[in-house]
Amino acid sequence: MPTERLPVGLVPAGSSLEFTNDTIPTALQKEHALGPGHWGVLHVFEGTVRFVDIASGEESEVTAPDHVIIQPEAPHRLRVTGPIRCRIDFFRKLEDDATMRTPGSFAEEEVRQSFARCEAAGDFAEAFYTTFINASPAIAPFFAQTEFGRQRKLLRDSVFLMVTHDVSNPEMRGLLDKLGAVHSRAGRNIAPKLYELWLDSICQTVKVLDPEWSQSLEDHWRVRLRAGMQIIMAAY
Ligand code: HEM
Repeated sequence: MPTERLPVGLVPAGSSLEFTNDTIPTALQKEHALGPGHWGVLHVFEGTVRFVDIASGEESEVTAPDHVIIQPEAPHRLRVTGPIRCRIDFFRKLEDDATMRTPGSFAEEEVRQSFARCEAAGDFAEAFYTTFINASPAIAPFFAQTEFGRQRKLLRDSVFLMVTHDVSNPEMRGLLDKLGAVHSRAGRNIAPKLYELWLDSICQTVKVLDPEWSQSLEDHWRVRLRAGMQIIMAAY
């Protein structure tokens, strides 16, 4: 059965590609289940996906911008009857095993150094907001009342923490949960589909400011920040 909230103590474990009704794998439309200790969040960015819980036989409609939480080992299938855009974010239980790594943990030092070069070259948050607000007409209205001096500082500090602290760090998790609440539908009501624009704008800012930018460095920024983003989005 789907539940409302992702349990605490889970860490991100990667994402699927973004699927449309044409590209959604057949395997997801047949009965299947996640492994033990593995959870999924199906984000529906556009359209409606029908989630069929095999055990109860219940079928629920998940309409954008909603999501459904998929429990470990729960047999289910998706039913698609019209145009959609969706993605599944994966999470798993954090075990006391030092060999378990979270996405982006390998890139910490490289991305930290890149962020330091960006800050030496200019004002990261100022450059970011210029790009983000111009990324889509959907963004500017959210910031109509914003005091940007304060906002730039908070954004800069949150990016710095996402770069320097792993998502499994309890303090980091506390901050991400707080940001999840700020951006949730009960807060600023930031639809999950807007987050890719956020990440694209961060990467565009790095491209402009970091003299050592490369495509592979950008890929590492993406994987490093996506993990924290998954937690904020799952709280929508
Ligand atoms: C992982 C992605 C994101 C991070 C790390 C982030 C970070 C932050 C932070 C640190 C704050 C300040 C929270 C506070 O006041 O305590 C904030 C506020 C806000 N964010 Fe985000 N954000 C993200 C994505 C987005 C997206 C996609 C939007 C879409 C428009 C957005 C819109 C806003 C708005 C409207 C506010 C409130 C601004 C105000 O106080 O006027 N954020 N965000």
